[in-house]
Amino acid sequence: MIMPDTTSFPMELIAPESGQPLVWDSAGTQLQVAGSDVVVPVRNGIPRFTQAEHLESFGRQWTRYEVFHDDEDRVTFQAKTGFDLGKLNGLRILDAGCGGGRYCKVAGEAGAEVIGIDYTHAVDKAAKLCGHLPNVHLIQGDLKRLPFAEESFDRVFSIGVMHHDANTRAVFDSVARMTRAGGWYSVWLYRRNQWWQERINDALRARTITMDPDKLERWCTWGAWLGGLPVVNRTLNKVVNFSAHPSYENRVCDTFDWYAPQYQHHHTVEELCDWFTSAGYVDLKILPPEKQGRLYQFVYEGNLLIGSGVNVTGRRA
Ligand SMILES: C[S@@+](CC[C@H](N)C(=O)[O-])C[C@H]1O[C@@H](n2cnc3c(N)ncnc32)[C@H](O)[C@@H]1O
Repeated sequence: MIMPDTTSFPMELIAPESGQPLVWDSAGTQLQVAGSDVVVPVRNGIPRFTQAEHLESFGRQWTRYEVFHDDEDRVTFQAKTGFDLGKLNGLRILDAGCGGGRYCKVAGEAGAEVIGIDYTHAVDKAAKLCGHLPNVHLIQGDLKRLPFAEESFDRVFSIGVMHHDANTRAVFDSVARMTRAGGWYSVWLYRRNQWWQERINDALRARTITMDPDKLERWCTWGAWLGGLPVVNRTLNKVVNFSAHPSYENRVCDTFDWYAPQYQHHHTVEELCDWFTSAGYVDLKILPPEKQGRLYQFVYEGNLLIGSGVNVTGRRA
């Protein structure tokens, strides 16, 4: 496996609790606050600030499935960040909740210096996926306890992440502090659906989040099968969520991604815009969904599309 050269990490890392600088040891196996017993282990070249804990299902899914598609990932990245790939060269970018690293790869290939951070060992998959990109660096850590000085990044994005924490807003605010003045911050969160969809989903997920992951995965293969059936995959999934992605493996992964995580909060555009404004962001833009078409727009705007998002970008004043 080609590992990123972390001893040449492009920026200073700090202890999240104290803000004191962390220093690499000469072998690149740990970081330490000089003269203290605060030590951060480094494995496979990646600093590890966390264990997987309640987000373990993500460590599993990102290292188990091959769901990366270069063209699709580039299109999704641009749609969900609002960033122009042609203008990222040389910028320092934070991928907050990078999972298996598909968007680190997109931004890294566009010439940006990328730091991807995720709570789980999904970062090992990201390291593999981005092994050819010396400008991509990874950290296993909590977005609420970031090891960077404030205002360290030109661009910050987070796609499908913050709603999986016990407190979405706390994650949003912590990450919001990382953008420099004049830099852009883009966030995609799950959209709140109609009350009856939320009720059905809550009842289902109350069961699925306690299931053994192997058993849940078997259920998800049924969801993936339904997602391959024409008509059914455009109608039934407005009641019970399952993925209709063209690839079977993506459908299993996406369906598992929906039913496994302990936390899954749903939000409104108004709520998200309010968070941006309170955090000192201006020039807010509500980003449109990737798919277009009159019927799609109608269902989307009616909050009937389970698994769709609310997506906003803003500039730090
Ligand atoms: C649905 S995945 C999305 C991954 C990636 N953004 C993508 O779209 O491919 C959500 C990821 O967020 C991470 N995550 C959730 N809460 C986090 C937190 N507080 N700190 C760091 N990572 C977190 C999970 O571990 C998981 O890998």
